Amino acid sequence: MSLQFQLIGYPIQHSLSPWIHERFLSKANLQGTYEINEIDPQHSFEEKIMEMKNNKELNGFNVTVPYKQKIIPYLDSLDKNAKTLGAVNTVLNKDGKWIGYNTDSTGYVRALETKYPELTKERKSKHVLILGAGGAARGIYCGLDFAGYVNIDIANRTTEKAWEIAELRSELTNTDILTLKEAENNLLKYDIIIQTTSVGMKPTTENTIIHLNSIKKDVIVSDIVYQPIKTKFLKEAENLGARIHYGHTMLLYQALYAFEIWTGLSVDINNMDEELQQVLEGR
Ligand code: ATR
Repeated sequence: MSLQFQLIGYPIQHSLSPWIHERFLSKANLQGTYEINEIDPQHSFEEKIMEMKNNKELNGFNVTVPYKQKIIPYLDSLDKNAKTLGAVNTVLNKDGKWIGYNTDSTGYVRALETKYPELTKERKSKHVLILGAGGAARGIYCGLDFAGYVNIDIANRTTEKAWEIAELRSELTNTDILTLKEAENNLLKYDIIIQTTSVGMKPTTENTIIHLNSIKKDVIVSDIVYQPIKTKFLKEAENLGARIHYGHTMLLYQALYAFEIWTGLSVDINNMDEELQQVLEGR
């Protein structure tokens, strides 16, 4: 039996997902394909989705920008993460029923905690700062909240957007909203600082969202930007003695969780981190 997976989105010709999932399939000794199914926003989304529904051999697919919300009316059910976030990035075809998941949020937390496993025992005592309040910040906020982190502040240029994210918090979670300037002046409070915006991404690699002047010893500084792998923000953090966490690992773990949902199998992805780094550096 050969498995069939796809990615829908636009534009997605340069997506790394086929590379990642083909590796997973081969590591798991499974026969299968993972194909790009680019849906031009000029064309009928519904028509394309109906074509996919008619393909009974399709085991599952990933969804990326701009369809993470648009896919929801075509699904039979949603998991808890996807429901809370109102966004789906993974769909499982289970006996003809389409089930929507969001593996971005769990994927981020898994990537972070695989790199720093001690965090799993210290979730309640860690003070986290999220920089940015877009879709990625929303996923990461909910992922941390679900995992049991209870002190998660958000700083954003537009504070109203941060308030909207904070409304998703569970009962035990405390969230302060800050301006970027306030965050910059209070960094000593934080054990984990997560940069979730596109600031610092190629080609504007000299930009950083805030300056990391005084930070806590042993702080973990994470940046979801992975082009370049080591952003200026991460370089600044490293120079100040912080422990750093690269953005491309989130890609791997969100994909791994999707693969687990589709196949019921997991794979060892230890050395893929470096392989993916090389692929990205070659671009
Ligand atoms: P995504 O869905 O990928 O997270 P997004 O929804 O466009 O992307 O969110 C972008 C985030 O980056 C927002 O928090 C945005 O701040 P605003 O809410 O004030 O717009 C933030 N952002 C983008 N460019 C920025 C910049 N130059 N300085 C500060 N914040 C920036």
